[in-house]
Amino acid sequence: MRNARIAPMRALTFLASRFVAGDAIDDAISSVRALNQDGIKATLDNLGEDSLTREQALAAAEENLVMLRRIAEVGVDSNISLKLTQIGLAIDPALARENLIRIAQEAARLKNFVRIDMEGSAWTQKTLDLFYSLHDQYPNLGIVLQAYLRRTEADCRDAVARKVRVRLCKGAYKEPADIAFPSKEDVNANYDKCAAILARAPIPAFATHDDARIAAALKACDAAGLVKSDYEIQMLYGLRAKRWGELRAKGHTVRIYVPYGTHWLPYFTRRIRERKENWMFVVRNLWS
Ligand code: FDA
Repeated sequence: MRNARIAPMRALTFLASRFVAGDAIDDAISSVRALNQDGIKATLDNLGEDSLTREQALAAAEENLVMLRRIAEVGVDSNISLKLTQIGLAIDPALARENLIRIAQEAARLKNFVRIDMEGSAWTQKTLDLFYSLHDQYPNLGIVLQAYLRRTEADCRDAVARKVRVRLCKGAYKEPADIAFPSKEDVNANYDKCAAILARAPIPAFATHDDARIAAALKACDAAGLVKSDYEIQMLYGLRAKRWGELRAKGHTVRIYVPYGTHWLPYFTRRIRERKENWMFVVRNLWS
């Protein structure tokens, strides 16, 4: 019985390894080193969300401190990304705030940067509130905005006015139509509109594997008078690796989101759900 359960888990773990750089920080650091050798930057993410206890939230915060120190020790070119529910937002906003302050302070000491990922819409306002309450004091914090949300155009204008660093993505969570555009066309159109707004914010980061979205963002950056070092194009580990090199060869700053850790299932599920090719990859491999 036990073996019957272990075999599918092993298969899933193997499949997840396409999207996840390993279980431990040093696995991820090896991947970052390989990216850096090709002139590509990284953002390291210790997988996890929705910590249920203070102990889990504190342990997650501790791991983020370890990540920052390890990046500095080994001298790789990487910042970090984290989720606020991982460091306690769902348990106690004060705990998440304390944890985030510790992480931002350590990042500042090590001259590094912390990107706060954006989670499902239940967390959007709470995430922005905590972020903005600390941003003036810790300008080495940045945020993510999701083009599928109807509110995001206004959030982008606000971000430009407050001079914050934004990563723009399409959005990965299931959301109701009253708050998120249900059609891909509308999401794409909003992505391009928001990219044009964010071209006026500091170091905008365009996170997408969609060539048409990248082209629109580059056009907007050009129109805003930005040069290639003024913005970033970001993609996910395991997706379109050939494209990273092509963009880098054209002189763009490319940053890859490198997740690691044992809590990979929700992240893996989002990757499988969002694209037929990723789903086919799993089916093909499970079959063989
Ligand atoms: P989408 O999946 O709609 O694909 C559009 C087109 O891109 C395809 O039709 C195809 O042409 C091309 N394409 C995509 N994948 C390809 C592949 N594997 N091979 C070839 N072509 C491909 N989400 C969130 O909610 N909060 C967050 O904080 C983040 N953070 C984040 C960081 C980074 C660096 C990235 C890249 C993404 C995120 N996301 C995220 C995830 C994001 O919201 C979104 O779910 C995925 O990036 C998928 O959307 P795309 O923009 O890639 O286009």
